[in-house]
Amino acid sequence: MHASKNIPKITTHVLQEMKLKGEKIAMLTAYDYSMAKIIDESGIDVILVGDSASNVMAGHKTTLPITLNEMIYHASSVMRAVTRALVVVDMPFGTYQGNSKEALLSAIRIMKESGANAIKMEGGEEIVESIDRILSAGIPIIGHLGLTPQSINKFGTYGVRATEEKEAEKLRRDAKILEEAGCFGLVLEKIPATLAAEVTQSISIPTIGIGAGPSVDGQVLVLHDMLGINQSFSPRFLRRYHNLYDEIRGSVFSYINDVKTASFPNDKEKY
Ligand code: KIV
Repeated sequence: MHASKNIPKITTHVLQEMKLKGEKIAMLTAYDYSMAKIIDESGIDVILVGDSASNVMAGHKTTLPITLNEMIYHASSVMRAVTRALVVVDMPFGTYQGNSKEALLSAIRIMKESGANAIKMEGGEEIVESIDRILSAGIPIIGHLGLTPQSINKFGTYGVRATEEKEAEKLRRDAKILEEAGCFGLVLEKIPATLAAEVTQSISIPTIGIGAGPSVDGQVLVLHDMLGINQSFSPRFLRRYHNLYDEIRGSVFSYINDVKTASFPNDKEKY
């Protein structure tokens, strides 16, 4: 039985309690009103308006091109649908890395213009000044370590991160720094399961994994990937719950056929 099921609104404090009770946190992405409404009404705990919208919604190759205005547009659409889930919005690339004042202004715009509940930022020690400043303004932050897609040009590939001890050690240190700074949680992407388990044990805030194994406090997937809309992306960590690509194609094929054969609309489908 999920204790959080009857909670009318998920807050960062509820997530903290879930970690303490050992209840796993379920998180999915959404970028629009219709999908957000379905997953909120299904009981998802956290909705991430991810900058993966850059790939999934806009067809870019990376998350780098998406703008602050575009993220606010997606987040506002999601917020109109959601009553229960905690809604977290990604700070897009270039809005927080170099300058903590700009970071604060970007975070304030997201919160003020979309009405979201929290933001997510990629990185550790190198962005802690921005994190401190944003947290001081009362804006909750979830960190993101491991494979941080905004750094793809530095990494060169989307492969597993922190397999070498030096990078694993930095990740352990960054996790502590983010916890001590006051982040309410931490996303761990594509790192060895043993490292994710160790980090999860060593910090008091909840960890949410994607390709980080089972011993974390929750899991996140990109909705379009887990529904099988996107067929070209099949990493080992992805569990597909549906094959919507084929379902949609089949429906569109039937519609085209009905129109071409004049069997749609029929007598009951006209005024
Ligand atoms: O943008 C996104 O969807 C993400 C998740 C993959 C964690 O950051």
